Amino acid sequence: MKMYDRTSGVLIGKDKISARIKQLAAEISRDYEGKDLLLVGVLKGGWMYMADLVRELTIDCDVDFMMVSSYGSGTESSGEVKVLKDLSCDCRGRNVLIVEDIIDSGVTLSKLRDAIAARQAQSVEITALLSKPSRRKTQVEVKYVGFEIPDKFVVGYGMDFAEKLRGLPEVCVLKEEEYKK
Ligand code: IMP
Ligand code: MG
Repeated sequence: MKMYDRTSGVLIGKDKISARIKQLAAEISRDYEGKDLLLVGVLKGGWMYMADLVRELTIDCDVDFMMVSSYGSGTESSGEVKVLKDLSCDCRGRNVLIVEDIIDSGVTLSKLRDAIAARQAQSVEITALLSKPSRRKTQVEVKYVGFEIPDKFVVGYGMDFAEKLRGLPEVCVLKEEEYKK
């Protein structure tokens, strides 16, 4: 089946995504000018946003990745965050910016932020391309948010449903039939 046939349509198209990332990158470049910046991409969902964001920054930065899992194969967070791949560098004393695809309940990002802060990073901030504010269970400050979206399960632009549909170049809504199957 074609990828788009599993969606009920595009929520945020390519042009809107790239325009918003340019704005966020300008803000981040300004805020971290003259500082040492370490971007920490959250795998897997955050990889496409990370790749586009880093190319729009005007300041240099280091990049590293963590892989965490909080979802099984469904559309609800299990509430338990497992670190599947840790940082390959020491983040002590560094300015860390966590780069995530989407904040939903907030559980993943609050655990990640605490874990990085506990390693004595100098600062820890978060950017998420998308936020579903109505789903929040834990308050987490996300300094740079791309778009606030309604409570719909989205796929594409790095985000998956049961590991599929990540390659869609824009943010699409998953058809309801898909998770009711
Ligand atoms: P949270 O811990 O509930 O905030 O969930 C965060 C993680 O769940 C995100 O990093 C995503 O990887 C995944 N997630 C949450 N909502 C969606 C969605 O609508 N589509 C795809 N993945 C999602
Ligand atoms: Mg994610």
